Amino acid sequence: MIKNVDVVIGLSYGDEGKGKVTNSLLKKNKYTHCMRFNGGHNAGHTIYKEDKILSTHAIPTGYLQDVQPIIGPGCVVSPRLLEDEYRYLKTRGFVGNKKIFIDKRTNIISSEHLAEDSNEVLIGTTRRGNGPAYRDKYARKNLRFGDFDHWKQHFFEVIDVYEELYGAKECEVLMEGAQAFGLDIDWGDYPYVTSSHCGVAGVLQNGIPFNKIRNVYGVAKAYDTYVGNKKFEEEDPIFEKIRNIGMEFGTTTGRPRQVGFLDLDLLIRSAKINGVTHIVINKVDVLEEVGVWKIVHNKKLLDFEQKLHFTRFITNTVIKEVDTMRKVIMSETPEEI
Ligand code: IMP
Ligand code: MG
Repeated sequence: MIKNVDVVIGLSYGDEGKGKVTNSLLKKNKYTHCMRFNGGHNAGHTIYKEDKILSTHAIPTGYLQDVQPIIGPGCVVSPRLLEDEYRYLKTRGFVGNKKIFIDKRTNIISSEHLAEDSNEVLIGTTRRGNGPAYRDKYARKNLRFGDFDHWKQHFFEVIDVYEELYGAKECEVLMEGAQAFGLDIDWGDYPYVTSSHCGVAGVLQNGIPFNKIRNVYGVAKAYDTYVGNKKFEEEDPIFEKIRNIGMEFGTTTGRPRQVGFLDLDLLIRSAKINGVTHIVINKVDVLEEVGVWKIVHNKKLLDFEQKLHFTRFITNTVIKEVDTMRKVIMSETPEEI
């Protein structure tokens, strides 16, 4: 049975550092499971572990910790790309004997989906077959992991997430989001969105009761970034500087990310709709190195003289405007929150 659930989601446009927050929470709290609930290989999580920098995509961060990793029914997965990712971790010495559980309802990204997405030019997708796979899922003509009898690879196992989470054992689950609310299929800037539900609504569809959710960690950065084909911000030497110091290049595709100042209006909206209880603002150290403290609030650009004014304004505004908010955490290192 499920005892408690914590959730990690992105509040902006992805690449906020959800992998770091997830990894940090897994070390700090006692969880039994870590479940990815949306998206597929389009995600790119960067994790600093034992002096190594690791990138994961569809494999839950919990795979690298002492918890059971699950890929939930809200995800789409290419067996081929999953195998590539497993091998990548294996050559770096980061796989044990444990298997990744994949729910039998999880939809498959086929080689046709990958081929179709590989020359996508309108949205600027990550070209990992995400959109075509979800389209076919909703058209009710896709294949799912459960369609293959006894599909037991050496590194994953198809399971029923209901049996796993509602048995006799008490479960403490960390739900790991991909992409972010600014890219959500309904709440993002359509059509410049991904094809899944990136917020708490997406969590619930994976077999999680709403009233078992304890903490919702919303992750953002001290500035915003976006990858895709919409025009995000005017080019400005300061954004170029942030991009280079913050190493803002896609984990999945290597594309340079467009940079802008933190949109506090978007952050507050995302936090309200998802009942966020904790906000983590990452990469404050990057902005410190750049030496500018600007944010957009009520559609106006605010300029602060020093870090303390910047962090205090964010903290006070968020606590005042979002009634579910309990804590605002400013993070200044790549390893920990
Ligand atoms: P798709 O999810 O590959 O279909 O891409 C749709 C949009 O979401 C594109 O603008 C992508 O760059 C963006 N996107 C998808 N996954 C991520 C992510 O993990 N981080 C940042 N942007 C993403
Ligand atoms: Mg990423």
